[in-house]
Amino acid sequence: MVSTEGAPTEVLAVSPIDAEQAEAVWPLSIEAGWNQNAADWRFMLAAGRGYGCTGTDGRWQASSLVLPLGQKLAWISMVLVTKDRRRGGVGTGLLKRCIDEVRAAGAVAGLDATELGRPIYLPLGFHDLYRISRWHLDRVPQAKAPPPGITVRSVELADLPRLATYDRPLSGMERPTILAHLAMRQRGLASVAETPSGKIAGFVLGREGRVATSLGPVVADSEAIALALTAHAMASATLPFIIDVPDAHLDIKAWLEAAGAVSPRGYMRMTLGDAKGLDDPSHVFALAGPELG
Ligand SMILES: CC(C)(COP(=O)(O)OP(=O)(O)OC[C@H]1O[C@@H](n2cnc3c(N)ncnc32)[C@H](O)[C@@H]1OP(=O)(O)O)[C@@H](O)C(=O)NCCC(=O)NCCS
Repeated sequence: MVSTEGAPTEVLAVSPIDAEQAEAVWPLSIEAGWNQNAADWRFMLAAGRGYGCTGTDGRWQASSLVLPLGQKLAWISMVLVTKDRRRGGVGTGLLKRCIDEVRAAGAVAGLDATELGRPIYLPLGFHDLYRISRWHLDRVPQAKAPPPGITVRSVELADLPRLATYDRPLSGMERPTILAHLAMRQRGLASVAETPSGKIAGFVLGREGRVATSLGPVVADSEAIALALTAHAMASATLPFIIDVPDAHLDIKAWLEAAGAVSPRGYMRMTLGDAKGLDDPSHVFALAGPELG
């Protein structure tokens, strides 16, 4: 057990952030240069639970979010503290609040840590699973045909339950609501790969963002299928793109680099406790995003 005692010296006044506050809390992620738009905040605050702190003027100065991914896992994200209020224990205080909630539900906490976030997660007992690179791309990369026998088509509403069932053992996450939200939000980016017998062999989803189109998640039977799906989505998406790829996938990395993609930063996937399947990126070719898992 990780102790959540020894909290910050000041007692932190933490308030819930509800979905109606999406526009009001959004400046925090803009200040950090992140890609979320108000629609992302609205979805996350409705699907999960937000906690934050306001200043004397009532504006949000800090945020955090717990997003349940099934009964056994919850994602902690959007840990943001406005620049003027950093290094005062606010980030740690909010994180402890989130951890306590995840623990009370008997779940394991997971997150994708930025370089700024990792120093606050390590002392709280989080351990590293694997590294992820965030790629920025401002041109469409080379097209990639699917392997023989595999076809790629648009995701239909009727596919959603099967998509969630396919995703669960490969991603280690139970996230039907997130997958349905993304698939219906940007239908042009949502594609599924199938075998000749109609079995799902992979899928790609994506969404528009504040500064770039975000591709992911990409979950597939093989890297060749993942490449074909990603190329297919990018061919019809609005430039520029961002995509978060586990470093283990060298063919995707080479393909992105050949198109001039750059990766100025990355993430470390971390958990507090053990979550089955979460440490294995072999079928996870792109994240839904560090904020969504
Ligand atoms: C990460 C972030 C939330 C930290 O918030 P914070 O309120 O400043 O964090 P805390 O004051 O609780 O920091 C706790 C400890 O973490 C460590 N720490 C925090 N930021 C650090 C940094 N930039 N470099 C090194 N150590 C750091 C320190 O040990 C610090 O304790 P100290 O100030 O007594 O030395 C804030 O920097 C932020 O909003 N960054 C931009 C968004 C981001 O990257 N969020 C993390 C997503 S994973």
